[in-house]
Amino acid sequence: MPVITCIEDLRRIYERRAPRMFYDYAESGSWTEQTFRENTSDFKDIYLRQRVAVDMSGRSTASQMIGQDVAMPVALAPVGLTGMQAADGEIKAARAAEKFGVPFTLSTMSICSIEDVAENTSKPFWMQVYTLKDDDFMQRLFDRAKAAKCSAAIITVDLQVMGQRHKDLKNGLSAPPKLTAKSVANMMTKVQWGLGMLGTKRRFFGNIVGHAKGVTDPSSLTTWTAEAFDPALDWDRIRQFRKMWDGPLIIKGILDPRDAVEALNVGADAIIVSNHGGRQLDGALSAIRALPAIMDAVGDKIEVHLDSGIRSGQDVLKALAMGAKGTYIGRAFVYGLGAMGEAGVTKALEVIHKELDVSMALCGRRDVTALDRDILMIPKGFEGDWA
Ligand code: GLV
Repeated sequence: MPVITCIEDLRRIYERRAPRMFYDYAESGSWTEQTFRENTSDFKDIYLRQRVAVDMSGRSTASQMIGQDVAMPVALAPVGLTGMQAADGEIKAARAAEKFGVPFTLSTMSICSIEDVAENTSKPFWMQVYTLKDDDFMQRLFDRAKAAKCSAAIITVDLQVMGQRHKDLKNGLSAPPKLTAKSVANMMTKVQWGLGMLGTKRRFFGNIVGHAKGVTDPSSLTTWTAEAFDPALDWDRIRQFRKMWDGPLIIKGILDPRDAVEALNVGADAIIVSNHGGRQLDGALSAIRALPAIMDAVGDKIEVHLDSGIRSGQDVLKALAMGAKGTYIGRAFVYGLGAMGEAGVTKALEVIHKELDVSMALCGRRDVTALDRDILMIPKGFEGDWA
């Protein structure tokens, strides 16, 4: 068993163990991948301020996200196709999150269904919802989430149309995948992955097949997905979704202060500053660089969360010190899952927890809920001074 000390260790093992097409799906951004890269590199422009000889005993990373207790303010982000990274991947990740005491978010485009995850976990999870045209499907999705006792819905608002990821096109990754000879040859070399997949029935989009009208088998999914996403989505439509779901609501995909104000007006409980992990608008600001203006606009009126670019506990610390109340990891947990299944997701959470806890201490702080910008050195003009 290799010694795992950081998220990058998990990524390397994941790269060897997962079929290339699914590794590429996770590890890519849209077009030139500028935003994908800057999501991580911009964190490095912010420095942490070391303080010494302050009492660092009795520390706590416990906090709350939307009023729910979390062992640390780091939720698992919704990631499509998680169940192709490892057999029953969503169930494994949800179990690891539950044991650790952080929220798990199930993607609409997951392989394991809402019901599958609910049956195989004991604590409520969060449900991510894509905004589709089909009202029946939407209402049913919210009803299914309710029946499964999901304790929040996350509506993603930045994927009305899809950013192009070159590798997915080249690898034939569509819904359902069009397997190329190269992809199949590559899959045959991933023995552990293949045995897992042979041992599960869950190999297609579990929330869609059999639930959306006209989608009875994976082959009808292509037509459905091409038609399903709603390019006409606007804030009035999001208000309709607000009425379909009476539980806590989080709006994901905010990068501009004006959109943050709209989300507030819709009655959301929290927003997620996110550029979809750099997978949508290439050339957009990194999430961490977009955060300050959004904090200024709505930070005292609504809970602000952040995803996109977090690969370490130090990144989490920086986002929290800049005012975010919660953060999400997507790729960082997928690396763990693809490397070592449920134990790998647990490992990813442990790594990030330790980095967060020790770095917080070295900044002279003991309580993750009482952080502020004083522990940071942020370069002048970090958020940009745009003409
Ligand atoms: C879907 O959410 C994706 O980013 O692939």
